[in-house]
Amino acid sequence: MELAGFENPLREGLRLERTAEPCVTVIFGASGDLTKRKLVPALYSLAAQNLLSSGFSIVGSARTPMNHEAFRTAMRDAVNRFSDAGPVDSAVWESFAAGLFYTPTDPKKPESYDNLSQLLTEIDRERGTAGNRLFYISTPPSLYSDIIRLLGATGLNRSSNGGWTRIIIEKPFGYDLQSARALNREVLQVFTEDQVYRIDHYLGKETVQNIMVLRFANGIFEPIWNRRYIDHVQITAAESLGVENRGGYYEQAGAYRDMIQNHLMQVLAHVAMEPLATMEANAVRDEKTKLVRAIRPITFDEVDQFIVRGQYGEGSVGGQPVEGYRHEDGVNPESRTETYAAVKFLIDNWRWSDVPFYLRSGKRLPKRVTEVAIQFRRAPHLLFKHVVSGHFEPNALIIRIQPDEGISLNFNAKIPGQAINIRTVRMDFQYGTSFGKRSPEAYERLLLDALLGDSTLFARGDMVEVAWELAMPILEAWQQPASNFPNYQAGSWGPKEADELIERDGRRWRRP
Ligand code: BG6
Repeated sequence: MELAGFENPLREGLRLERTAEPCVTVIFGASGDLTKRKLVPALYSLAAQNLLSSGFSIVGSARTPMNHEAFRTAMRDAVNRFSDAGPVDSAVWESFAAGLFYTPTDPKKPESYDNLSQLLTEIDRERGTAGNRLFYISTPPSLYSDIIRLLGATGLNRSSNGGWTRIIIEKPFGYDLQSARALNREVLQVFTEDQVYRIDHYLGKETVQNIMVLRFANGIFEPIWNRRYIDHVQITAAESLGVENRGGYYEQAGAYRDMIQNHLMQVLAHVAMEPLATMEANAVRDEKTKLVRAIRPITFDEVDQFIVRGQYGEGSVGGQPVEGYRHEDGVNPESRTETYAAVKFLIDNWRWSDVPFYLRSGKRLPKRVTEVAIQFRRAPHLLFKHVVSGHFEPNALIIRIQPDEGISLNFNAKIPGQAINIRTVRMDFQYGTSFGKRSPEAYERLLLDALLGDSTLFARGDMVEVAWELAMPILEAWQQPASNFPNYQAGSWGPKEADELIERDGRRWRRP
């Protein structure tokens, strides 16, 4: 196929729709929630779209003893329950399930890897998977090191018969700068960087990928995408849910580690990075890393000035009364963990000097909504200020990441009538209406990319470390417990200190 304007689409880094080569995907942590809710439903959906080759196989691996048949049954239930592509199609399932295997593993025991290796060789022989392997580490982080080390020690880090070997590492990638560096070191002792895929599922979201297309495939936005026209940017990831059954994990994480340090940092990089020369994986990741390096570090002493934390108490969400965080399962009744964080970042480069980026994320907020709001400067001369009735806003471009995916541009218009009355109106693009088809789940896109060997949408080790460098003074200052927790009611938009953070600058949070 020829694309106009590109002699060699692959050299230009364009990704064409392709089928993944025959391969075995090994999931460590196969009895966990992620496997059921996301990974196997995503792989099934790829199979249903004919994007996997017929020999494609999956080996589930976890401590739980189980045979292949029991694993197949459990995975069929999972796909039925969690796939958004509708109920299982029997014919697709039959051929998909023929490639599903299970092997019980003790991640700390070398014998387990020998058994796995044998099973992989058998699958290669029977299903023609040619030694191609994708390992997916989705266990609790405390097991990452052992798995990586033992994959290396048992020679599973390289395929012996000319195939490829890749490894996907789930979040969290480290708990702090030191552990992220140690994990990078451990991984790179066993694998080369081009074998390593650090997943951040936000990068698999259509709407996050579309930020680049919006900016770089249109001529009208880039000229105004800078400090001359943009007043500030707000990035919001609000969730109405609490911590559900993940209290144990969340107690160790908190909102900054769980959402801001990784997901929102990636979104920020897409919004603010410099235009790309090519779409080649490292070109994209170089620009993003450069951007994160340009974020002005918040020092230990400045933490209270630039960042706010919160924890929800009891309240009500969607009309239902809900408990406070400290009463959730697996949570310490005196917990000091933050379930909300809002931060103001400044970026020290020519494009963004003095333009604040306000990021916020929290659990048990009034609704689930993730969006980027580019707030433009006011018109320089307020011609209409004496004749106007009503309230109107400066222009804003709102990129709705989820739900109700789309983009809208807010601008001011005259209300029809004899007088000059002005109101802010909205020009709207919605994915659903414009394209009329479902957007693939983030994990579908990312798994397929890893199978195709495309790491553009995966975090590179250096960017992960820079993001942790920025986080460290904040997390160190927060070792000192907040004295006012809980400080926001479940179902509200967060603590009043978060309003003060932005209002000090003469601005307001949007109410999406
Ligand atoms: C995960 C966090 O990485 O992202 C969760 O651990 C959070 O706490 C989730 O709820 C949000 O993802 P999404 O795709 O629902 O916005």
